[in-house]
Amino acid sequence: MAGKEMTGEKKTGKKVLLIVAGGIAAYKALELIRLLRRAGCGVSCVLTDNGGRFVTPLSLQALSESKVYADLFSLTDESEMGHIELSRAADLLVVAPATANILAKMAAGVADDLATTVLLATDKPVLVAPAMNVRMWLHPATVANMATLAERGVHVVQPNEGPMACNEFGPGRLAEPPEILAAIEAVLAGPTIGAAPTSGASAPLAGRHALVTSGPTYEPIDPVRYIANRSSGRQGHAIAAALAQLGARVTLVSGPVSVADPDGVSVVHIESAREMLDACTSALPADIAVFAAAVADWRVTTAAVGKIKKRPGAEPPTLSLVANPDILASIAAAGPERPRLVVGFAAETDDLMANAQSKLARKNADWIVANDVSPSSGIMGGAENAVHLVSASGIETWPRLAKDDVARRLARRIAETFG
Ligand code: C5P
Repeated sequence: MAGKEMTGEKKTGKKVLLIVAGGIAAYKALELIRLLRRAGCGVSCVLTDNGGRFVTPLSLQALSESKVYADLFSLTDESEMGHIELSRAADLLVVAPATANILAKMAAGVADDLATTVLLATDKPVLVAPAMNVRMWLHPATVANMATLAERGVHVVQPNEGPMACNEFGPGRLAEPPEILAAIEAVLAGPTIGAAPTSGASAPLAGRHALVTSGPTYEPIDPVRYIANRSSGRQGHAIAAALAQLGARVTLVSGPVSVADPDGVSVVHIESAREMLDACTSALPADIAVFAAAVADWRVTTAAVGKIKKRPGAEPPTLSLVANPDILASIAAAGPERPRLVVGFAAETDDLMANAQSKLARKNADWIVANDVSPSSGIMGGAENAVHLVSASGIETWPRLAKDDVARRLARRIAETFG
């Protein structure tokens, strides 16, 4: 029986088919197998010809305790476990490292070896962990291939930024095995980011409490009018869901939005900035706080009790404004109750980096997620985001991603910090 080849079934029943493509980062696949086995997953491996130049079938076999498949035309393999069976026996296919070449083949539907044939034949979820030279990663061909794969529902563990084996610097380094494991667990836990949270003590953020703010605030002028902004809450809600998927207990304090409450998250609905501050203060203590809300900077000094009437010939009313409390800065100054990791957002139309860095210091945040929200970016209210992660240790630029993927990546980063 095909499934018998996969070990570790007794612990989780989850089986991963790991496809190891060629690249210097293939050595990290060995550590990934070890982590997967420790997490109770069964692992079988498919090694491409190029992958076999970097790691041996023997090491994959020893760590996975399972046969390693390489040859599409091997009669033995086809009689014992055909390529369709390989995919059928798995809950998830993982390509790590995923080279520019295998990603291009996947996008084009090429099936010219065992790995690509299995990938074309499968109806199971697929997760890719790209690894390549920075110029290859940023090449329009790879960008287009990644967009095609994302559209088809392929999950992605984004590569990290850093020094590369080719003596260049930038995004393209294979994500670390614990990051890939967290993404695998998130995919195995459910089909969407709003699905049931990863449970159990092995979830990376199990036992942690995360506070997240999201959406706009409404500042009343009178009982029927208010000052607001265009925030949709999509990014904040996705972050709350992604943290819950990694096992955190999440309190989401949300302004008025049209996106649904994420599953597995406790949501406090508020309208004004002062209500948001009260809800956040009441939610403490928390280990993690992510302030993604677009809080109104000002409110009307005294909102009218009754509707302000338009009177013929009268001057329009003048609104006198007063500053709202800064929720991030207040929680970051909460003394012993300050969450260990405080993350703010900087949505700017000008001088993005300078503003983000000054916010980091001024608000006593640990990280600032900076994004350009000028109308031409299409980010405000849109489905995608292009962010830079600013911290005391430097600036990391992430590629333009779906807001769900930004959320997942941020949640993984947070999980690493609490590693
Ligand atoms: O509005 P500003 O650009 O200063 O927002 C930066 C960060 O501070 C964001 O994370 C936002 O959620 C937070 N903030 C807040 N309370 C405010 C203003 C902003 O928590 N009154």
